[in-house]
Amino acid sequence: MIDIHNHLLPGLDDGSPDMETTLAMARMAAADGVTHIVCTPHANHRYPYDPFRVEDLIARVRARLAETGIAVQLARGADFHLTYENIQEALADPARFSISGRGYIMTELPEYGSFSSFDETYYELRLAGMTPVLTHPERNPTLQDSRVKLYDWIDLGVLIQVTATSILGHMGKKAQRMSFELLEKKQVHFIATDAHNTTSRPPKLRETYDLLAKRYGTEYADILCKSNPLCAFEGRPIPERIDLQGAEETDTTGRSWWRRLVGR
Ligand SMILES: [Fe+2]
Repeated sequence: MIDIHNHLLPGLDDGSPDMETTLAMARMAAADGVTHIVCTPHANHRYPYDPFRVEDLIARVRARLAETGIAVQLARGADFHLTYENIQEALADPARFSISGRGYIMTELPEYGSFSSFDETYYELRLAGMTPVLTHPERNPTLQDSRVKLYDWIDLGVLIQVTATSILGHMGKKAQRMSFELLEKKQVHFIATDAHNTTSRPPKLRETYDLLAKRYGTEYADILCKSNPLCAFEGRPIPERIDLQGAEETDTTGRSWWRRLVGR
């Protein structure tokens, strides 16, 4: 599995405080079946983002992973908060915050306030060659109460990342309900951990993968936890639509493939 949202790097933000914790997180992820991690430290007023410093830290962590035999590949990303300054910097230099500098940019909304200006922001990010990913909309209190903007952004080509523990119910009932709503509308593109430590916010995907596989089938779970995130990790476009092997759009009963998949 591939985790595209993880605060693994030591001492940069409210994620891992030190190299020891970073190695413990990486070991835990590997034991859980995670093979690739995008390191996404916060980029906001509190935690300024320097891509060179992040690359340097990744190189140091890679060396320690090799020494300790932990088989996890790393890439550079950012937890890009949608502030005015960040947006201007990203538009001027699309590689600065995007995953390995290849265009996928993990955007985080403010919790409250007007979201109307973000239509233009997402349009401009796309126009500048980036692929914006909206991180954990299911945890945003404004979007929990109104989905209108969310579907506008999806129409603009924004991809959706849901947090693994939201699906398990650890982020509250509203977040869990909204996760399943988006999953059932096929409006989720990635599942990621948003891990910060080994305890309250661990770097684990397996339990969520198993739940998704049981509820919707392994192909959809694979798309969300493996193939789409690998595209983001490697900077390749994700497939336009979700193709499930052997699934036609409708069957003889007229039910869509999705209804059949979820047994309705
Ligand atoms: Fe995050």
